Amino acid sequence: LGQKVHIYDEVDSTQTIAHRLVASGAPEGTIVLAERQTAGRGRMGRSWHSPSGKGIWLSLILTPRIPVYFMPQLTLLSAVALCRAIQKVCQVDIGIKWPNDLLIHGKKVSGILLESSGEDERLKYVIAGIGISVNLLEEDYPEELRAKATSLAIESGGEVSREGLVQAFLLEFEEMYALYLEKGFAPIRLLWEALSVTLKRPIRTSTQSGFIEGIADSLDDTGALTVITSDGERVKIYSGDIELK
Ligand code: BTN
Repeated sequence: LGQKVHIYDEVDSTQTIAHRLVASGAPEGTIVLAERQTAGRGRMGRSWHSPSGKGIWLSLILTPRIPVYFMPQLTLLSAVALCRAIQKVCQVDIGIKWPNDLLIHGKKVSGILLESSGEDERLKYVIAGIGISVNLLEEDYPEELRAKATSLAIESGGEVSREGLVQAFLLEFEEMYALYLEKGFAPIRLLWEALSVTLKRPIRTSTQSGFIEGIADSLDDTGALTVITSDGERVKIYSGDIELK
């Protein structure tokens, strides 16, 4: 991975650039990095705060020939790789909130957005978008994000090398991806569970049919979260966001 690296000063979103690169034949492992994004995208239609030079705003092109419904597994794999990379380069107490937010002391430091294109029930390609708030300081966040977002610099008390972290991430991702393609989701699931700050904790989420509250119990083979509600019912959550209580 990362044999071909495209680096930009400013883009709307590295995701958009990566989609375009796929269309012009870019191979698996190509990465796009930008100093800043003017229209960084988050999950569920949200925007992603991507100020200049302070973070890692990266998109990685993947072309696994797996069924479309395995996509959530890749999302969880990305979170495992990123969490392990961050643990290697700085001393912070980091964990994964389902499905793929990375939290330090309950605040979000990194987010992952997977966008895909499929064909005949198989994935044609996936763009893994990785946002890491590396060297942002308190004043770099708009007021409304301060209570729920943090950065590696804030949490570790010093500047963190973005180059070192990108390298560590690519190595971890390569290792996890090879493991996944060879052995399937089972080993990734175990690693995810060990890094999770979600399992065995009370959570709440809203679905089309109302709120679900309960204890997050486990992951299933597809990456869905099983929740045990107060009346003992097991409910699966396939997508969306959860709130840790
Ligand atoms: C989320 O937590 O909502 C996901 C955030 C993903 C942000 C990254 S930054 C690089 C890539 N380009 C984007 O526009 N978004 C992703």
